[in-house]
Amino acid sequence: MRSLYCGDVTTDHLDQHVTLCGWVHRRRDHGGVIFVDLRDHKGLLQVVFDPDTEETFATAERIRNEFVLQVRGRVRRRPPGTENPDMKTGEVEVLGLELTVLNTAETPPFQLEDTDIGEETRLRFRYIDLRRPEMQEKIRLRARITHAMRTFLDGQGFIDVETPVLTRSTPEGARDYLVPSRTHPGEFFALPQSPQLFKQLLMMSGMDRYYQIARCFRDEDLRADRQPEFTQLDIETSFMSEGQIMSVTETMVRELFRDILGVSLPDPFPHMSYAEAMQRFGTDRPDLRIPLELVDLGDVMQDVEFKVFSGPAQDPGGRVAALRVPGGGGLSRKEIDDYTKYVGKYGARGLAYIKANEVAAGRDGLQSPILKFLPDAVISAIVERTALEDGDLVFFGADRVRVVNESLGALRVRLGHDRDMLAGDWKPLWIVDFPMFERDEKSGRWMALHHPFTAPNTDDAAQLADDPGGTLSRAYDMVLNGTELGGGSIRIHHTDMQQAVLKLLGIEEDEARNKFGFLLDALKYGCPPHGGIAFGLDRLVMLMTGAASIREVMAFPKTQTAACPLTSAPSPVDTGQLIELGIHLHKPPGVES
Ligand code: AMO
Ligand code: AMP
Repeated sequence: MRSLYCGDVTTDHLDQHVTLCGWVHRRRDHGGVIFVDLRDHKGLLQVVFDPDTEETFATAERIRNEFVLQVRGRVRRRPPGTENPDMKTGEVEVLGLELTVLNTAETPPFQLEDTDIGEETRLRFRYIDLRRPEMQEKIRLRARITHAMRTFLDGQGFIDVETPVLTRSTPEGARDYLVPSRTHPGEFFALPQSPQLFKQLLMMSGMDRYYQIARCFRDEDLRADRQPEFTQLDIETSFMSEGQIMSVTETMVRELFRDILGVSLPDPFPHMSYAEAMQRFGTDRPDLRIPLELVDLGDVMQDVEFKVFSGPAQDPGGRVAALRVPGGGGLSRKEIDDYTKYVGKYGARGLAYIKANEVAAGRDGLQSPILKFLPDAVISAIVERTALEDGDLVFFGADRVRVVNESLGALRVRLGHDRDMLAGDWKPLWIVDFPMFERDEKSGRWMALHHPFTAPNTDDAAQLADDPGGTLSRAYDMVLNGTELGGGSIRIHHTDMQQAVLKLLGIEEDEARNKFGFLLDALKYGCPPHGGIAFGLDRLVMLMTGAASIREVMAFPKTQTAACPLTSAPSPVDTGQLIELGIHLHKPPGVES
């Protein structure tokens, strides 16, 4: 239907007759001449209709925004002085000779240029929202990224294998989405939280190197970088060490950045242990663009009179740490109060601080409500360890380790952004040497830091059972600018070890057989050593496009409350369907009638 895309017309086409198809982006009547900006995904092109072509002009008078047109016309140079340097096609225009209205459009609920449209409206009319050039660009970049991933992995001998969506629960730590079975009344499929178990089974099937761009489903609390339904680039290989898996996958990411963004990432990516990341940044996904670090002070706070500090300092499960803010001496009372409120969201019960007016003057050069509780030796230790300089401010966190890490870790990121401290554009790294388990604060039970199929860095199940808390795993996470892009591990490939790990997690033999019997069986029939990784594709695309949320890089995302305003899903179903599925709805508590 067309000979050229609107956005591709240039001075190379002068005097040529072209046929274009697209949407009316804007129509202007200029005393007898009608200008139409015609839009397709390549861009905008000005089409001019003049009254000489009578029938065409009459049609042009009827057209409105978002009508779909086919135009035949002649490319010409715009008259001098009327060029538009902001438009790719700004030097040319097409004189419209024939015009077909392929479809009309009602007045759209918003103009494509509107910038303050509510997200609910954008999602409800997503097909219009996606016409906007910036959305086109993101979705198209996403397609280029997945294409490049496939090309890279195909080249490395990986094969694309699909795994089931109607399956059993996979323990990735979120709640499952369940699907009732009609043919097995009272029974349910779970949508996969990841293809984890199937990709391991594929290794046991001799597939050697697998990948899949796989949809995952997790019913969890949503955030800017979390959706209930999201996509992983899922990878698994046999007979490779963690070093090899990390090397292949970081090469892929490096090539993606080079080919798609023209950015060169470090080669190799730096590695950092989990312990070091928690110590220095309070998180296992540090944003290394921010030059602020947590500094431990527990040892010097042991005996201070100030209980807020000495309590956690004496508690083996506590932490006292400082965060120096260069130039932070200028922070106002209100700003400090705001930051105090902010860390409160992470459970911090306060945010002590010291301002440094003149470090050389010792105690007298400092300013803080807590100075009076701290002896000189402690003050010197603070100054020295934080490398305090005139004009700086130090914040303090003192609480259980988790609270200090989460609150100061988040504060660090917030300060980095608020104070424009981001250095460098892209700071990838690997986090390694994760603990195998962590204790659940409430139940006191061991929980897997990754998932229960991650191999410990010992082959000795007895040794693992002796010291679960001190054993590291063979897991690795790729982190970019404070976002966990991907995570993976070498897997357990011996039945004994798998059973030992499940037991430590409090999953008794019966339950293990019931939930993962198929995996435990498969391990017995010649399972190769294997491992892999999964990247959050949406997150990667979000970072590569500079989008603020993963919803911006998904064609049809869900809202923050996990609903789809476009299709109105989820929705009630017919009683007949429920009966067929053997489902009886209880009224939720508090709902009448
Ligand atoms: P994990 O649970 O760490 O590992 O997930 C891998 C990556 O998927 C992305 N991700 C998400 N993205 C958007 N919305 C979500 N709700 C969401 N949850 C996770 C993250 C994360 O790094 N089977 C293992 C992988 C393996 O061991 O190979 C797994 O799923 O970027
Ligand atoms: P208070 O003695 O409770 O008034 O606290 C004195 C200072 O210590 C205030 O600036 C509080 O914000 C701060 N503070 C209180 N609890 C903590 C805590 N757990 N960690 C860090 N600072 C705290």
